[in-house]
Amino acid sequence: VKFVCYNNDGVDQHMIWLIGLKNIFSRQLPNMPKEYIVRLVMDRSHKSMMIIKQNQVIGGITYRPYSSQRFGEIAFCAITADEQVKGYGTRLMNHLKQYARDVDGLTHFLTYADNNAVGYFTKQGFTKEIELEKERWQGYIKDYDGGTLMECKIDPKLPYTD
Ligand code: ACO
Repeated sequence: VKFVCYNNDGVDQHMIWLIGLKNIFSRQLPNMPKEYIVRLVMDRSHKSMMIIKQNQVIGGITYRPYSSQRFGEIAFCAITADEQVKGYGTRLMNHLKQYARDVDGLTHFLTYADNNAVGYFTKQGFTKEIELEKERWQGYIKDYDGGTLMECKIDPKLPYTD
């Protein structure tokens, strides 16, 4: 497998993968309106870290880096049904942390975790205690009910991937 991060850049292969990821999100996040998923995945200010297996996307994370604030908001995260619980979700998050730190210059992630995904995010180092100063994120991320706001601090030096 390989890990790639792209946005809506008009490159055919990237667009094919982004559409595949959008389809995984639609299926795995049934409470999210499909039009909302398409809008964010295709929005140029969002990026998607994707897992590619035999040239097919099997999961990914779509996030919006707020570079001036040095944090990122994770919008969607999912692995396709028949590849879940094999460790891909953990590897995906580790690749995202490394990329967000080294390429985007971010120090934190915030996300509204679905209640059934709080366990997954906790295992990835997210907490319900928000240490990031409110001035850095208030007004940037949209309020969303039906989820728990969680934060993850990205270690400044740790190698997250090998
Ligand atoms: N609740 C509690 N623990 C979980 C959950 C869960 N829902 N899912 C996975 N875990 C645990 C695993 O048991 C594993 O623990 P271990 O390391 O002690 O063995 C650890 O988290 C990592 O497991 P992975 O195999 O790496 O996780 P996976 O590849 O299955 O990906 C994911 C996890 C992304 C949550 C996947 O199950 C999925 O797509 N679920 C449906 C969609 C979803 O709920 N997405 C998150 C919504 S919130 C949002 O998008 C902002």
